[in-house]
Amino acid sequence: MKLPPNAALHDHSPTPVSFREAVFEGLRKSQKTLPCQFFYDARGSELFEQICALPEYYPTRTELGILESIGPELGERVGAGVRLIEFGCGSSRKVVAVLQEMDVSTYVPVDISHSALQGLIRDVTKRFDDLEVQAVCADFTREFDVPGDDDARTVGFYPGSTIGNFSPSAAEEFLGGLRPLLGPGGMIIVGVDLVKPTDVIEDAYNDSAGVTAAFNRNLLERINRELDGTFRPEQFEHLAFFNRDEGRIEMHLVSRRAQSVEIDGEIFNFSEGETIHTENSHKYSLEGFKALARRAGFEALEAWTDARDLFSVHLLRVCS
Ligand code: AVI
Repeated sequence: MKLPPNAALHDHSPTPVSFREAVFEGLRKSQKTLPCQFFYDARGSELFEQICALPEYYPTRTELGILESIGPELGERVGAGVRLIEFGCGSSRKVVAVLQEMDVSTYVPVDISHSALQGLIRDVTKRFDDLEVQAVCADFTREFDVPGDDDARTVGFYPGSTIGNFSPSAAEEFLGGLRPLLGPGGMIIVGVDLVKPTDVIEDAYNDSAGVTAAFNRNLLERINRELDGTFRPEQFEHLAFFNRDEGRIEMHLVSRRAQSVEIDGEIFNFSEGETIHTENSHKYSLEGFKALARRAGFEALEAWTDARDLFSVHLLRVCS
């Protein structure tokens, strides 16, 4: 894709080796796991877009509604001429709501999916023709070079409750690790899904159209495509349930019968009912997330929610 003159795409995407290593490491464990960041190849990103539009999946539209309603206030609190770094962007809808209200000089979207970034660059540059876009294809949980003016005030944008895909201790560590990047007085806007009645949460991950199940199984298809695997994805059932003790949705793939799978010469055996744990999605109370942010070295400046208290958007500032 030819990029517009005001955009650049810096490629630090993980090599196939890191996907391969993660798959072998996860499937050799006694509780088999596959890391959820590998959901997002081109097909997975497409399916995730469909999930975001599902009637049962409330987080996307609820967060968007909050961002649209707080836009002017957010713009005022954040100030002018900022470098905005979005972690794990996906599509453009949410950042457009923010860019419309904030005075941003450079926008740095960071995502593991090349195809999602290209779509995002196209959308954003079409709408904001004098905005400098410096996209980075990278795993944002690892260190990467941030383009743009290091002296500009930096504001992070981490929507979608992607922070919920970390364990609480890893979320704290991740946020704490952003402090040097954001700098003294730097801020971050974080979208966080809230704890609520079990049926509402579980419906969001067990949609009636079966899109979340396809998204989950795409991990197996990806292993077949990229690592020469012999998974029969239809032989694994999608399972998603709310583990209230841990405060998280767990997604698994359940082997429908005893079976073996070969990946690049190595055999993995599954007993009937054995699961591969593919994702955790933690839900927080408002106070619970503010406390986590404080432990990570941030001041919790503000938190906004929707009328039904489904979702929250937090504004945090690096403590000096
Ligand atoms: C990206 N992440 C915040 C989503 C979530 O809700 O945990 C991923 C997802 N998994 C299943 N549906 C959506």
